[in-house]
Amino acid sequence: MAIREIIRLDNPILRKKARRVVSFDDRFQQLVDDMVETMLAAPGVGLAAPQVAVSQRVIVVRLPDDEDSRQEYGPEAGKLYVVANPEIIKASKEMVEGIEGCLSIPGYYGRVDRHEKVVITGQDRHGKPLRIKAAGWLARVFQHEIDHLDGRLYIDIASEVWEARPEDAEEAPLE
Ligand code: NI
Repeated sequence: MAIREIIRLDNPILRKKARRVVSFDDRFQQLVDDMVETMLAAPGVGLAAPQVAVSQRVIVVRLPDDEDSRQEYGPEAGKLYVVANPEIIKASKEMVEGIEGCLSIPGYYGRVDRHEKVVITGQDRHGKPLRIKAAGWLARVFQHEIDHLDGRLYIDIASEVWEARPEDAEEAPLE
């Protein structure tokens, strides 16, 4: 495994619509392993392939597994999600406002409305179909990462964006 460079806002790859994953070969397994390692090292709670300059539709997500997260999210805390070709097939009408930061836009945070609940379909790292129901923060991270696959960034939809304050990092790990 290897840590890959996370590209920044000025790189046009972040703005491209990523291609579907069609081959779950060794090269793809390497990409997934590297994405997980890169996300954990950053540290971040989510990462999309375009952020490591690979324009393919795959995301990794992992909420922290500290005591607070375990109390709030139960088994979802610390669980690693790898989703290829993710699609939101259902989204709650209810929206919730929250703070987000992006590994590709260091030094900034923003306030973003997201669906409170989503149902996601896609494939696991071996191409097997999967379906995930997510709520709250987990749902937020999935929406942020899936947006990356369509070249969309949180700053496009944020009601407010500001320069990072010390308290932001604790409240909103990067994704
Ligand atoms: Ni991001």
